[in-house]
Amino acid sequence: MRVRMRVLGAVSAALVGVVTLVLPAGAAPAQVAPGGPRYTAGAAGAGDAYFPSAGNGGYDVRHYDLDITYAPPPAAPAPLVGQLSGVATIDFVATQDLDRFNLDLRGLSVQAVTIGDKPAGKVAPPAPGATVDGAAYWQVQDDAARVWELTVQPRPKIKKGQAARVVVAYGGQTIRPLDIEGALYGWVTMRDGAMVVGEPEGSMTWYPVSDHQTDKATYSFEITVPEGKVAVANGLPARDPVTEDGWTTWFWDAPDAQASYLTTASVGDFDLRFSETAEGLPIVDAVDDNLTATNRATTEASLALQADMIGFLEAAFVPYPFNSSGAIVDDDTVGYALETQTRPVYSRVARESTVVHELAHQWFGDAVSPGRWQDIWLNEGWATYVEWLWSEHSGRETAQMSFDDVMDIPADNAFWELPIADPGADDLFEAPIYDRGAATLHALRGKIGDDAFFAATREWLTRYDDSTGTTEDFQAISEEASGQDLQAFFDVWLRAPGRPTTW
Ligand code: TRP
Ligand code: ZN
Repeated sequence: MRVRMRVLGAVSAALVGVVTLVLPAGAAPAQVAPGGPRYTAGAAGAGDAYFPSAGNGGYDVRHYDLDITYAPPPAAPAPLVGQLSGVATIDFVATQDLDRFNLDLRGLSVQAVTIGDKPAGKVAPPAPGATVDGAAYWQVQDDAARVWELTVQPRPKIKKGQAARVVVAYGGQTIRPLDIEGALYGWVTMRDGAMVVGEPEGSMTWYPVSDHQTDKATYSFEITVPEGKVAVANGLPARDPVTEDGWTTWFWDAPDAQASYLTTASVGDFDLRFSETAEGLPIVDAVDDNLTATNRATTEASLALQADMIGFLEAAFVPYPFNSSGAIVDDDTVGYALETQTRPVYSRVARESTVVHELAHQWFGDAVSPGRWQDIWLNEGWATYVEWLWSEHSGRETAQMSFDDVMDIPADNAFWELPIADPGADDLFEAPIYDRGAATLHALRGKIGDDAFFAATREWLTRYDDSTGTTEDFQAISEEASGQDLQAFFDVWLRAPGRPTTW
């Protein structure tokens, strides 16, 4: 889809001059002169080979304001289906002259769209190349192809560089969406609420979004839930919750640039607790009332270490990148934790190694996100390596011992077959992404020395802060910091199958 759009764009750009030449004198040119407005459709994808229709082109989102009302499912044995309705107010700046643009939205239907103050009319998806009159919108929902698009045709058209506001009223039944590997993700309906974890492109299951990390934005939330339920999102409370007629609205503000997959708005029977680190960084923990006694004890012991872990990470790398921290621990489970920005989500229990892993992601993954999904080892390898460093710091297994454990995996084990710099969309979260990724970093540290390794890491976190970086960018920074040509090193560790022997 993305590729075809690029080709069409290139062809029509090339035709501009030609068409003008062959027109009889005085006839209106099909396109205005180069440099003038040339309105085209924004791309339907951000250009990620693993998820071609995730994200969109033609604009840059600055802010999402999400006003959501959610009714969790009725008691068992009713099906696990909730009801969500929302109004998303999206502020963006056009990066091309826009005739149409897309948002991603999966499984929910749109009731109204306005652009500026102009309402758009709902139409059936037009045939490719067909024109549509006036301001309009339409939805395509193709589960088999994993294509979920909302297209908006603004009138008047939007010029490159122009700021615009699109307001989308939408809603429907919430289900339990699955990612490309078959894991629960997105807005996961739970009996007591919802556990909201969007990696890699699951945020489109609960709000209209350009669902790719290359378009970060700030967020504000108003989440209305039945009285007694707590809704927890990213950042900090903007004001006290308001209860009216049996419904409570929770207000959260996330002022740091954020990738869409790191957005959460989890709903449940949470106990909300506010504390801060010695340096005054706010910590907001939301712990489900219904954890088992054992899980509660483990969780409380781990969460009590958060301030120390943040201090450890700041000393090793750069200051904590966001305005707040904390945790959401839900007794319902999708089976894994996610590093949702400022406030990771944990399934059933928060173990010490998982907490330091998710906190490490605040730097590695959240502040600096992977440029493409194939760069996922930069997230998981780093978060795993920080688990190793924390273990050593705590007087347990050293990083070298953890590295040796990985290298003890027999050379003929399937573990060594996955080229982790391009694992494929179906293998984003396989063990080698984590463990071979961490071993790569330890081997790099050994090869270039501690000074260059930590200098490179700080440069990585500074240069790509609030942005994204790729494996090639990481290699370039490692080469700059060390003065070494590391092509063979990174080929052996990331790109070639097989257990590395020399590097
Ligand atoms: N990001 C999670 C972590 O901290 C991993 C993850 C996301 C995941 N989606 C998943 C793991 C699906 C297993 C299945 O490691
Ligand atoms: Zn992780």
